[in-house]
Amino acid sequence: MSKKKILLYGFGTVGKGFYQIYQDKQSSEFELIGIIVKNLAKHSPVEVPIYQYGTEQEKSLFSQADIIIECTSNYTEGKDIVLSALENGKTVISASKKVLAENLNLILDTKEKHNAKLFYEAAAAASIPIFKVLNYHFSHENVRYFKGILNGTSNFILTKMETEGLSYGKALIQAQQLGYAEADPFSDVSGWDTAYKLVLLTFSASGTILNSHDLFIEGIENITFQDIYLAKNNGLRIKLLAHADLEKNIFFVCPAFVNNELANIDEAWNAIQIEYEYAKSQFYTGRGAGREATGSAIWGDLNLSQSLEKISQKPVSLIDTAEYHGYWFIRLHSPLETDLLYWNTAEVLTHNKIQNYYVVYAPLSRLKELKNKVKNAQIIQISDENTLKVFTKQTVSYSFQF
Ligand code: HSE
Repeated sequence: MSKKKILLYGFGTVGKGFYQIYQDKQSSEFELIGIIVKNLAKHSPVEVPIYQYGTEQEKSLFSQADIIIECTSNYTEGKDIVLSALENGKTVISASKKVLAENLNLILDTKEKHNAKLFYEAAAAASIPIFKVLNYHFSHENVRYFKGILNGTSNFILTKMETEGLSYGKALIQAQQLGYAEADPFSDVSGWDTAYKLVLLTFSASGTILNSHDLFIEGIENITFQDIYLAKNNGLRIKLLAHADLEKNIFFVCPAFVNNELANIDEAWNAIQIEYEYAKSQFYTGRGAGREATGSAIWGDLNLSQSLEKISQKPVSLIDTAEYHGYWFIRLHSPLETDLLYWNTAEVLTHNKIQNYYVVYAPLSRLKELKNKVKNAQIIQISDENTLKVFTKQTVSYSFQF
């Protein structure tokens, strides 16, 4: 049997992770015929030919390839590669969450029209095979809700700030050195990377295609040691979470105070808590970023692509996301911003003048307005009653000790 020909686009963390396993496995099933990069000068030769994107050599290898692995960090090129591979009926394995999330409808249509196959396990929660769980094993299930830690970089930064007292900036540099962060880490810390993953998981869970630009998205950029110690001294931790309530159509990304099983997920690990209609609660965890975790996810897709004819997909639907009122902790960084918080549709439960934070009951749309007005405000969700009591009964511990 002749080997399936693979062409790899992108030779960063994910591409190198795939290549490392390719070298280790000496596969009898697959042949890597080339690696395509944006800037040839940045790469040392490896045992497989490397060519620059847009050259004649690339075009020739593209036409020969059966399988395209797309793990570039450039949005426009990534989108072009995925779409033209699908248009040519090739099997596509992609790790580009932004490309997939922002063009899901178009990509799915193109795949259907050209009878191509598409897999993207590496695009969310890396080593956790969550798309396979949702698309195959639980395709008969209605998912009621899920919550997840889906960005390894942010979780790494929060963990390092809390457990080692490392500054935000230093923790981010470490995350970059370890290959966890995106080429532009804004996507990681601003919550957008988590939002793209929320879009992809929501689609597999329910068939619903969300528009990421409609979502409320809060990251961890303005988290301070005050916030982290405030949480810690009151038995809580702060985690950047994707929230999806599929029964009420509520979807958002925001850090939250947690003290449940999500609280124990450290460093670049990811975790997803899911509630199914019949199987009820499940909890998945594993490495969410890094060369080996993402490389392994690509290989999982590659193996599956040879045995599966069609991905099982719930009927596609578009919905209007619902307004959600909740309890929120808001830290301002300047007392001058205080007046902005006395909106008429938000109820202020507590205001702590010393630490300059508020606890409010407000809808997500109000939070979006606040973020537009006060760029460096940090919002953290208070998602359960016990945590709310911590803040409203004045039992908060203010000490800033480890
Ligand atoms: N930058 C991403 C993260 C990589 O930190 O989670 C994996 O998607």
